[in-house]
Amino acid sequence: MMLDLPSSSLLENVSQLKGKVLLITGGAAGFGKSTALLAAQHGARVVIADLKPKLTAETLADIRKAGGTCTAPDEPVDVTHEDSLRNAFDHCIKEFGQVPDVVYANAGVALDDHFEDDYEIAATASQAAQPGPPRYITTDVNLNGALLTCALAQAYWKEHPASPGEGRKRRLAVLSSMGGMTAIPGGTTYSTSKSAVLGYWRDVCVDLQKQGERADFEFYAICPFFAKTRIFKPALLLVLAGIPLVPVPLIGQTLVHIAVRDTPLSAPPGGVIILPDHGDPAMGTPTEYDPLSPAWTATMHARCFKTDDWKKVKAWKRIWRDVAANYYGTSSLGLVIRAVLVSFARSARETP
Ligand SMILES: NC(=O)c1ccc[n+]([C@@H]2O[C@H](COP(=O)([O-])OP(=O)(O)OC[C@H]3O[C@@H](n4cnc5c(N)ncnc54)[C@H](O)[C@@H]3O)[C@@H](O)[C@H]2O)c1
Repeated sequence: MMLDLPSSSLLENVSQLKGKVLLITGGAAGFGKSTALLAAQHGARVVIADLKPKLTAETLADIRKAGGTCTAPDEPVDVTHEDSLRNAFDHCIKEFGQVPDVVYANAGVALDDHFEDDYEIAATASQAAQPGPPRYITTDVNLNGALLTCALAQAYWKEHPASPGEGRKRRLAVLSSMGGMTAIPGGTTYSTSKSAVLGYWRDVCVDLQKQGERADFEFYAICPFFAKTRIFKPALLLVLAGIPLVPVPLIGQTLVHIAVRDTPLSAPPGGVIILPDHGDPAMGTPTEYDPLSPAWTATMHARCFKTDDWKKVKAWKRIWRDVAANYYGTSSLGLVIRAVLVSFARSARETP
């Protein structure tokens, strides 16, 4: 059965973060930034490995302002390029004198893409007899980039083994999504990439489990439902109005939890953590993650489709509140006042 991870206990061992080194791909925004800020506030040293220099500079400044220690390579880091990603690991060694203790393969994009539609677009645009190539951006970043990050972490750890007796101090996490377990209309390649990283996580865990107490790192896959970050298209906020989103800080806390989680050596070296709404995260072991097993289906169903909040999805009050807050950045009352003022202004203009 899945284990609830009460949000109140996520940061129980947070004092153990002191001095740990965390490398976060896509750490300049959203979940990555939330994790970086929280971890640095608790004494971790953070490497931001992100493609966007401006966001990276802002995040570094925010962490330093909060008294944290952080760094980023001079060149932007692109997870789809091995040399670029290697540079981030080497930068970590140069700046902090060690390989990262914790690596988050978090960088991701969400484009509106149906792989097969891209074929049609390319074919029409070029008027060529042969269809043009589809776009690979989503799978390049979300799948190949995540796999490369995980593979490099393991390679660097092998090159720089932990001291004996340190247990499974090292932690690896990959960002999947609830979209890795279920279909997302209009998000074919996104869903594909997120299911694939979940498959990768599960298979690596089989190896880790075979190694048992010899396994020198733990591996987690994180599957959040929608959360309001830059990846999120404004139109989606309207579609999802009334449905509880996952609070971004809760994802940051969950990722920090992984870094300091107290796992007995006899326990499986990792897990899959789902965040289906604004409630507590829940964790399953690699063997429990079997989409065909009745136990898994029952848990997912109970957790994702039967909560009180989902029953209230049709409550207009919630929908109205969310549209006001998410789309217009105001309260329901603020939106009503604004609408009244606009209609007064209009009728005044129309009066001869
Ligand atoms: N927000 C959601 O609703 C949601 C839900 C489930 C899973 N996720 C996943 O969580 C992860 C983080 O997403 P987020 O919501 O924080 O998005 P975000 O857009 O706020 O942050 C993503 C970061 O990744 C960086 N990035 C993009 N391409 C990169 C590349 N090639 N190399 C390096 N960095 C790159 C971006 O610059 C950005 O800073 C993603 O993998 C996303 O797919 C998001």
